[in-house]
Amino acid sequence: MQIYNNEAQKQYSYMEEMKEWVKAQEERLGRPLTCHITTFGCQMNEKDSEKLLGVLETIGYRQTDTEYADLVLFNTCTVRENANTKLYGHLGHVKKAKEQNPEMIIGLCGCMMQEEQVVEKIRKSYPFVDLIFGTHNIFKLAELLKARADSGGMIVDIWKDTDQIVEDLPSDRKFSFKCGVNIMFGCNNFCSYCIVPYVRGRERSRKPEDIIREIEGLVQEGVREVMLLGQNVNSYGKNLDEPVSFAQLLQKIEQIEGLARIRFMTPHPKDLSDELIEVMASSKKICRHMHLPVQSGSSRILKKMNRHYTKESYLALAEKIKEKIPGIAMTTDIIVGFPGETEEDFEETLDVVRKVKFDSAYTFVYSKRTGTPAASMEDQVEPEVVKKRFSRLLEVIKESSKDNRKDGIGKEEEVLVEEKNTHEDGMVTGRLSNNILVHFKGDESLIGQLVRVKITEEKGFYYMGEQVNG
Ligand code: SAH
Ligand code: SF4
Ligand code: F3S
Repeated sequence: MQIYNNEAQKQYSYMEEMKEWVKAQEERLGRPLTCHITTFGCQMNEKDSEKLLGVLETIGYRQTDTEYADLVLFNTCTVRENANTKLYGHLGHVKKAKEQNPEMIIGLCGCMMQEEQVVEKIRKSYPFVDLIFGTHNIFKLAELLKARADSGGMIVDIWKDTDQIVEDLPSDRKFSFKCGVNIMFGCNNFCSYCIVPYVRGRERSRKPEDIIREIEGLVQEGVREVMLLGQNVNSYGKNLDEPVSFAQLLQKIEQIEGLARIRFMTPHPKDLSDELIEVMASSKKICRHMHLPVQSGSSRILKKMNRHYTKESYLALAEKIKEKIPGIAMTTDIIVGFPGETEEDFEETLDVVRKVKFDSAYTFVYSKRTGTPAASMEDQVEPEVVKKRFSRLLEVIKESSKDNRKDGIGKEEEVLVEEKNTHEDGMVTGRLSNNILVHFKGDESLIGQLVRVKITEEKGFYYMGEQVNG
């Protein structure tokens, strides 16, 4: 029998009570109750939503793909202003849905709810919202729903921070063959532009044995690939009672039989160890892909960003990674228009992109986040200037990734098949170890399998290929 910790046990008993409530509602209405979760933001949020859905399905809700559901949850992001704005658009829609279905329950959770001024605004201007909770107490969903059912009023429960990690609650996976796995929560880095440390709290690592147990369970259910998740995976394990390095954790995970691929995100350049590079180089399962956010190529801006590395040390690190792990794909995140960024600073960023030849990059226009040190820095860059730099950056990234793509043609490699191709019948789409997509002829039965594919053609950000036998 599975042994749960006390908090999980408590939550399972709330789930039992809510099961009865859902059943009674269904009998009264003469139809099943539906739920929907809309997720904004990063893979942490995607993972949290799988946990939230796990609880909702356990208590009897059925998932539906529209926001016209009996229970709608918005798992919010606040990393940039536009993530914020999106939520308010959706709230306008569900307000109308609730007018037609007054018993509808609308819940808000995630990073945006950790900001006091947001919660104030919602209390005042969106009184039809039933439930507000944050990032630290998502495990309480069943308990909060019970409180909502008992009181009938708006329930608001936000924690400022936590040192708690609740294991063993249900989760419903989006994909049968791959899955995100949290290895740590929170962030202690306080990059000067970033709100994440304020809304996700201090760094906490899960124990290696809990992580391994979760992955072993996933593999038994058919998962072939895991994505280890943390805001800075390099600092994994430092604060555990028995410290374990990220590289050591990877070595333990490598030994799990039946697991085919290991990915991780995000490592921070300031403390990416030689040990990690060596473990990756000798591993059969860790994918040939390193997402290593550079943010800017200017050492002056990097200092203002509080990133703790320079242009030169980043370039040296990227060089070392490519030399020790041949064929590895490098991708990155870049912010354009950080306060005080001059034309010269921006040129340094272009120079890094050309030198490292990233396979792809997530590019962001700097967004001012209230409460972060960068928000009060002088010399915020004019939007017009930022816009021009942004499109110049995209051009340079396109050029450098094209060069890399050509090197792949003619190679035979393993592909994990993910889905039917949405544009063309009789084709499927999968991912190479280096994370690049390949389209090739095949049917649905291949989904979730690793197959050998010969790369035949390069199409910008993806490849075409042919399955090879044997
Ligand atoms: N922990 C990860 C990424 C977290 S957020 C890391 O350290 O790399 C994902 C990306 O959003 C960041 O890498 C950064 O490029 C971008 N980002 C964060 N705050 C931002 C802001 N205020 N404006 C624009 N982009 C931002
Ligand atoms: Fe934000 Fe920096 Fe932490 Fe990443 S490492 S989440 S960019 S503060
Ligand atoms: Fe992720 Fe957005 Fe929160 S990027 S950690 S969901 S602020």
